[in-house]
Amino acid sequence: MGVENLIYPLFVVDGQNHKSEVKSLPGQFRYSLDNLLIEVEECMNLGVKCFDLFPAVDESLKDQYGTYSYSDQNFYLRYIKEVKSRFPEAVIMTDVALDPYSSDGHDGIVKDGKILNDETLEVLAKMSVAQANAGADIIGPSDMMDGRVEYIRDELDDNGHTDVSIMSYTAKYASAFYGPFRDALDSAPKFGDKKSYQMDPANKKEALVEAELDYIEGADYMMVKPALCYLDVIHMLKEEFPIPIAAYNVSGEYAMLKAAAQMGWLEYDRAMPEMLLSIKRAGADVILTYFAKEYAQMVAQANV
Ligand code: PBG
Repeated sequence: MGVENLIYPLFVVDGQNHKSEVKSLPGQFRYSLDNLLIEVEECMNLGVKCFDLFPAVDESLKDQYGTYSYSDQNFYLRYIKEVKSRFPEAVIMTDVALDPYSSDGHDGIVKDGKILNDETLEVLAKMSVAQANAGADIIGPSDMMDGRVEYIRDELDDNGHTDVSIMSYTAKYASAFYGPFRDALDSAPKFGDKKSYQMDPANKKEALVEAELDYIEGADYMMVKPALCYLDVIHMLKEEFPIPIAAYNVSGEYAMLKAAAQMGWLEYDRAMPEMLLSIKRAGADVILTYFAKEYAQMVAQANV
């Protein structure tokens, strides 16, 4: 697995001189800008050049419509701008969904206990344009609302961002493996679950339907998430579609290997590259993984 094909997810918070470890993700932190820049520089020196930034937003800034996501005051947009100006050759991917900004903790706008698809699209598009204005290279809609790739593509193009790519979370399953991520961002749903918009783990064919739509709507990359329990889906999309396939090696997959390694139950240095290799073998061209930096360090020490 080439280091250049890895995307490193990083959590960011507003403030200064802040670097706090996420309890359920040992080795992963929430960074304020100063520490983020240090982390990005270290990674770039190891050959990891693509970063997916996720904001942990203060509860007081959240509302039902996620308006902070495109506000001029949003620290996340400021951070994107700063990283791009310090490291123009870094590739910055963003997350587009309401959950970090929503007082309901859902990916879309909620009314009477239901997710409103079309109303959500407008917010997602505003958020995407704001991120592209800040310098984002790849927009990552992770919300699974219907029709969002086309809607976001049109808005990006209308605002002069034809060169900004979309990596669509095409087959995003309603998985138990996102738990630690929601701890990192404090973004767990306040009620219910995400099963009305995320996919049923038992369903493979629906991934093809979603992929066909994303492809027609103009996605530049299609992502399968999580990775390990869904290697068959990665393989299927790779066989069927002529665009790059990405896989998200999610927080729970990282946490379980880290925990077993800490207990001395698994040989970390062998199990970790084997995990990444399996995802690549299944057909992923790009892997989003919390292992990115450590893997790059191993490669640099010629341990892989
Ligand atoms: C939410 C989002 C999630 C992840 C990425 N974007 C969580 C969710 O759907 O609740 C999970 C990533 C991970 O577990 O590492 N828009």
